[in-house]
Amino acid sequence: MRTFTNVKDLGDLKAAIAEAMEVKKNRFGYKKLGENKTALLVFFNSSLRTRLSTQKAAMNLGMNTMVLDINQGAWKLETERGVVMDGDKSEHLLEAVPVMGNFCDIIGVRSFARFEDKKFDYEETILNQFIRLSGKPVFSMESGTVHPLQAFADLITIEEYKKKDRPKVVLTWAPHPRALPQAVPNSFADFMNEADVEFVITHPHGYELAPQFARNAKVEYDQDKALAGADFVYAKNWAAYADPNYGKILSKDMSWTVTTEKMALTNNAYFMHCLPVRRNMIVTDDVIESPQSLVIQEAANREISAQVVIKRILESL
Ligand code: CP
Repeated sequence: MRTFTNVKDLGDLKAAIAEAMEVKKNRFGYKKLGENKTALLVFFNSSLRTRLSTQKAAMNLGMNTMVLDINQGAWKLETERGVVMDGDKSEHLLEAVPVMGNFCDIIGVRSFARFEDKKFDYEETILNQFIRLSGKPVFSMESGTVHPLQAFADLITIEEYKKKDRPKVVLTWAPHPRALPQAVPNSFADFMNEADVEFVITHPHGYELAPQFARNAKVEYDQDKALAGADFVYAKNWAAYADPNYGKILSKDMSWTVTTEKMALTNNAYFMHCLPVRRNMIVTDDVIESPQSLVIQEAANREISAQVVIKRILESL
């Protein structure tokens, strides 16, 4: 594996899940694989789970890890070619990326959508500059349009907790005070569309995901109807994708918050969210604290999804 940005990069999904379960039972069994190898994790944006879980996964594999926080100690980076660099950005990504590539064997990149230019975000401009210029395998740690390490961890969690062969999984939009990227719902849809689940997306009108991620998933605009019989409820906020509203908040309708009453419509569903979560906006205290909440378990599985991905990259070096 040279890059990890989407579900197809994992190849046979059942085999990837089986590998994840095996890694989870034997996480220190591959320590030789990463000996004298270095993982560089580059963060353009904040993180708690990704930062800790990806470092832990690399260390489980015997790797050295280096974390670079752009904007906190490093030179501010220009990302667009052709810009006259007379502002506060001292270095261009076009030089910085190959320099970074000299000091490591694999690179993880976190770089959120900016909502300034849809084309810039959806062409994954920053991630692709790392892929093109670093000379090293690159994986997304949430980039402009995708968060595949999160979606893989979510799928592992669903596999662990499902009570039937083909559970109903509902991705529901929920309100949030700020405009958030579509990366998590995009990748969740990317993975669920390939998994053995009945997948339904529910959101207010105007929040349709990009067609390359939603694909043939059923979209139900009535949240109550969507939740009926659900085995897993995955809540997330995202800003509008469709033009002319790209990156905008169209609704803060609190009737979309996941409450005990909403969960009562389901088949005693598990509640999932990638975290961080705004309590009593996205989900009420009682739902996230209930025994049906899997938010801590899915966060823990971030170590496993990262370890499978890094292991596969190391095996390909
Ligand atoms: N879910 C997730 O990616 O968390 P962080 O933003 O804290 O890394």
